[in-house]
Amino acid sequence: MMSKSVRHFLDINELPPKELRNMLALSADMKAKLKAHDKGKKPLEGKTLAMIFERPSTRTRVSFDVGMRQLGGESIMLTGAEMQLGRGETIADTARVLSRYVDAIMIRILNHDALLELAAHATVPVINGLTRRSHPCQVMADLMTFEEHRGPIEGKTVAWTGDDNNVLASWAHAAERFKFQLNVATPPQLAPNKAMKDWIKATQAPIVLGNDPEAAVRGADCVVTDTWVSMGDKDGEHRHNVLKPYQVNEKLMSLAKSDAIFMHCLPAHRGEEVTDEVIDGPQSVVFDEAENRLHAQKGILAWCFNEVA
Ligand code: CP
Ligand code: NVA
Repeated sequence: MMSKSVRHFLDINELPPKELRNMLALSADMKAKLKAHDKGKKPLEGKTLAMIFERPSTRTRVSFDVGMRQLGGESIMLTGAEMQLGRGETIADTARVLSRYVDAIMIRILNHDALLELAAHATVPVINGLTRRSHPCQVMADLMTFEEHRGPIEGKTVAWTGDDNNVLASWAHAAERFKFQLNVATPPQLAPNKAMKDWIKATQAPIVLGNDPEAAVRGADCVVTDTWVSMGDKDGEHRHNVLKPYQVNEKLMSLAKSDAIFMHCLPAHRGEEVTDEVIDGPQSVVFDEAENRLHAQKGILAWCFNEVA
């Protein structure tokens, strides 16, 4: 069984704000050192991270791999299809076996329960590299990016426009932990599910759910969107049609604060959820956000290994 001292990174709302702040501070410190060409100590020397990808990835894969190398460790890249997992070996047995070889496991798998099962049976830290339910590594990088551009996020307003998805769920978890307002605009048929609504009610998280993108964005410090078709979603004309009014374009962006920033986890579908003018415009910080995946990943890894930068 899982030892109590194992530090998994599964979801933002499962960790105390103090630990999340600690991770962000580690990330910022490592970024500053990297920019100053200060190679410093190698806190993860001798450590190996197994990365399991059931679905494609560019940012998560490269940033974890490069992050491990920069911290003195190494990573092994595995895809579900290459592993016995793809032939029916259980998640629990996979967790038990990998825990004998490697020092941490990062997994991208659509089934969130499979992530939880892996964590329950691993004796090494498990990191959520995206499930259908959440994408916490992404939102740690997003919080870092927001604060670099606009200072402390507490009390600020973030607007989400698009469908309900894994990235939105992690933004919601972050709003509750970091005490910022999250205005959400989704089409009624693609709105957060009952479990999310119940969670918002139970935690009294400062989140307003609605269907009007203009109302959500008005006065916001940050506007966020994501692909209209997440991995595992059924693509189709109907989905695109109902999401069209939720596109972030210059008109919508003009309703936010004049110094509002635009964020997108990438990959973007230009001309769908966002126009070229916005994603390439002066308010867009999407490539800072992508870069910060590297620094945020290093902060998460160091935290999992209980290291101090
Ligand atoms: N944003 C993000 O997770 O990108 P990848 O799918 O490329 O890892
Ligand atoms: N919501 C997107 C995020 C991709 C990084 C997806 O799940 O496909």
